[in-house]
Amino acid sequence: MPAPTPFQPKGSVCIVTGGANGIGLALARTLKAAGAAHVALADLDETALAEAAVEIGGLTFPIDVADFAAVSDMVEAVEEAAGPVGLFCANAGIGIADPDPADASSAPLDAFESCFRVNCIAHIVAAKVMMSRYLRQGGGWFLNTVSAAGLLSQIGSAPYSVSKHAAIGFAESLAYTGRDSGVGVTALCPQAVRTAMIGENPEEELKGGADVDGILEPEEVAAAALEGLTEGRFLVTPHPHVRGYMQAKAADYDRWIGGMAKLRRSVM
Ligand SMILES: NC(=O)c1ccc[n+]([C@@H]2O[C@H](COP(=O)([O-])OP(=O)(O)OC[C@H]3O[C@@H](n4cnc5c(N)ncnc54)[C@H](O)[C@@H]3O)[C@@H](O)[C@H]2O)c1
Repeated sequence: MPAPTPFQPKGSVCIVTGGANGIGLALARTLKAAGAAHVALADLDETALAEAAVEIGGLTFPIDVADFAAVSDMVEAVEEAAGPVGLFCANAGIGIADPDPADASSAPLDAFESCFRVNCIAHIVAAKVMMSRYLRQGGGWFLNTVSAAGLLSQIGSAPYSVSKHAAIGFAESLAYTGRDSGVGVTALCPQAVRTAMIGENPEEELKGGADVDGILEPEEVAAAALEGLTEGRFLVTPHPHVRGYMQAKAADYDRWIGGMAKLRRSVM
């Protein structure tokens, strides 16, 4: 079976969750600039969503993207207004720090649950709503914003790390099950990106941890995502070092754990 036809932005109808800020807003801008006919945005941040709506011009939905009924209603409304959706960007995400950086179990259980809900369950919700439509349409694409933390780890936030590992696992399943039906998946896995998620003064706050390979601008990450989508690629790693780290982790897991312990000691 041939691989799914790569996503073509021109004339497409797209949905971007977490689209009011950061990487999501940059994705919406990039898709519009590449010729998308309609880019709808979903976000809980109603003030930023209203501002983004003026700029992007598509429908906006102040919804919780892990809520199946709300996402289902959103997709129906977008289809009615603009036609079949060709790209669903499951991008909204949250991070919660470990209260004790020397104890990966120190965050309250509800912090783990919240991270799983937004960072992974919302991707499953998107797929539950979109898959039957994509199968009827003969194809479609998901852009799932994961993180390098899902491939490697995130020092200082176990809830984030484990929810992003789950998200990459779901993206893999979605990609190999959908492949023969023309459904494509791109997993976007950056390291640090200059958004509200990493704080106002990330160079100081991250202290050589997550920013060890530099902080990218959201626009650079969105451009890398679009390139991956239009080339029909699964994994997009805007920070080039990430692939080498994955290889080192796979080659010698014990050595990698030792290296992470050393890095944690140096940044915490
Ligand atoms: N900034 C980074 O360094 C970085 C690195 C790797 C991956 N990511 C991922 O990129 C994605 C976008 O994050 P960002 O950096 O742009 O952060 P951001 O905080 O600027 O944007 C995240 C957006 O998601 C929205 N959101 C959160 N929970 C939601 C919910 N339940 N329903 C609807 N909207 C919700 C927020 O309101 C916000 O607008 C996330 O999945 C994040 O994990 C970020």
